[in-house]
Amino acid sequence: MHSKIALLLPLLAAANPLPSLQARGDAPDPAQITILDSSYSGNGCPQGTVSTSTSPDKTVITYGFDAFQTYIGPGTKASDHSKNCQLHLNLKYPGGFQYAVVDATYHGFARLDQGVTGTFFTTYYFSQDAGKTSTTKMTATGGGALLNGQVYTKQDSVETTSVVWSPCGTTGLLNVNNRISLTSSNSSAAGELSNDDATVAFTQQVHVAWKACTPGAGSGSGNDNTIGIGKPSSDVTFNDY
Ligand SMILES: *[C@@H]1O[C@H](CO)[C@@H](O)[C@H](O)[C@H]1NC(C)=O
Repeated sequence: MHSKIALLLPLLAAANPLPSLQARGDAPDPAQITILDSSYSGNGCPQGTVSTSTSPDKTVITYGFDAFQTYIGPGTKASDHSKNCQLHLNLKYPGGFQYAVVDATYHGFARLDQGVTGTFFTTYYFSQDAGKTSTTKMTATGGGALLNGQVYTKQDSVETTSVVWSPCGTTGLLNVNNRISLTSSNSSAAGELSNDDATVAFTQQVHVAWKACTPGAGSGSGNDNTIGIGKPSSDVTFNDY
């Protein structure tokens, strides 16, 4: 089952060149949204099954999942049919106005008999404004090329904006809830769907500062900051491995 990880590696290298990795010096750019720290939760990512790495400029984070896998068919339990893993990113926002795109790339594997359907939902929301969400969906229909298994790439782009009044900035918590699940119209048909890795990157950052940040000079005018989520788009490709 884990041989597919090795097969995915060349594909990963091609899809995620992480262009910003070498470009900058040691310190993150204070005018950018940066990742302060992160955590995850859910039955698809128990502790000890996830590897995490963050780029030196702290704008890109990559997760590797060892247990984010679903199965359906004879001998499987209901709890095998659906798994979720929520990523929590604690972000530092510069003061001023910021437009940024959250680009998230997911790779995984699907092997589905005829009659089995796999879905992969991702919902993005900020804890500050949890009522507002952006959701993308991938559907994999069993049969055809998926009988032998294929690797997939799900590529999401979600627009975000923030208006932060304190010149030294503030923090925001972005949640990325991923759920993969399988359903079947035929109890003898089988299938598996996994998510093997996720990369979340902050790109196309446009920042307009209103005031220079002077640490220690007070935090400015009130705390009616807004950090919001906008339009999502998603693209999915399946490939033989
Ligand atoms: C149900 O799935 C099994 C295994 O894939 C297949 O042999 C059988 O023909 C399917 N039955 C129907 C009614 O599609």
